[in-house]
Amino acid sequence: MKHAALALALWMGAFAGACGSATPPPETAADKEFDGESPPGDGEATAASEGEKPAKPAKTADKAAEPDEDEHEAPAKSTPVQTTKFEAELKKIGINLKKIPELEKLSSAQKKKVMPLLQKSLGLDTCQGCHVEGDFKKETRDMKVAREMWRNFVVPLRSESGGTLFCDSCHGGNEHVLNRKDKKALQAFMEEEYQGKLARANKEDMECGTCHGDAMETKIIEKLWNIPE
Ligand code: HEC
Ligand code: HEC
Ligand code: HEC
Repeated sequence: MKHAALALALWMGAFAGACGSATPPPETAADKEFDGESPPGDGEATAASEGEKPAKPAKTADKAAEPDEDEHEAPAKSTPVQTTKFEAELKKIGINLKKIPELEKLSSAQKKKVMPLLQKSLGLDTCQGCHVEGDFKKETRDMKVAREMWRNFVVPLRSESGGTLFCDSCHGGNEHVLNRKDKKALQAFMEEEYQGKLARANKEDMECGTCHGDAMETKIIEKLWNIPE
């Protein structure tokens, strides 16, 4: 915990130093009120892996495509932890919720039934949010991320009351769930929601380092899981 706090302080300092000129003025209240930019659960799918795939003809013509941006489309406010809607479905698929196996260990039939739950959890319009068209076996960055989210969060973590923590518990129908612009608000969010409202299956204490590692690596996906941008 001490390590984590120190590393975080250094990180926040480094951020202020490195990005001082680019840091927007501290208009956090205004930021919070501005919620017209990305309506939750709507129109996010086409931005699933911007920068990686060349623009494809939109499959769903009825949904307006959001313009591609370099930055992730961050929600105005980070998404709080919620109760999963899929506990019954996961049970029906035959997943032992007391001891959830890794995604890759599920049988083919189970994987197929779980896939729509991943899609719904992230609010993706089609399976192509993670897969390339026509080849479900071809590895994509989003598949790698999904597998690690399952391994590192869904398997070892639980809700505050010891219930299932699934993708929708954190994503709530959105792929992007963090507003990283306001560092103070993000730290408070992490403390209240991810540290405060989650538990570990092994009943050990939940700390920042449970997810960020002892050295408080903030780039979990890139540095801890080794999945490049
Ligand atoms: C959030 C990302 C994500 C979404 C959305 C998603 N998948 Fe997957 N899918 C994966 C991952 C990860 C695997 C690999 C699992 C493993 O390691 O065995 C996979 C594997 C599969 C496989 C098995 C391929 C094989 O190896 O035989 C099929 C079939 C599949 N997905 C179909 C779908 C369908 C259909 C949808 C839409 C309903 C979908 N997926 C949506 C992440 C996703
Ligand atoms: C403990 C909360 C939590 C759980 C549970 C969780 N995620 Fe995530 N996920 C996050 C956070 C935080 C991010 C970063 C979002 C951001 O940048 O706005 C993220 C990002 C992602 C991304 C986008 C990565 C990128 O860089 O574009 C994918 C895909 C994803 N998660 C899939 C899943 C899937 C599939 C599951 C369930 C197997 C899952 N997540 C479970 C918290 C969670
Ligand atoms: C349940 C897992 C979990 C816990 C516990 C957790 N975090 Fe996070 N945190 C994440 C995920 C996932 C991300 C997104 C990582 C990524 O993009 O690679 C993230 C991102 C962050 C970021 C933003 C990093 C960036 O560069 O934008 C900060 C800062 C942060 N966390 C601080 C904390 C602090 C402080 C604590 C403890 C009070 C904490 N976190 C606890 C999962 C967690």
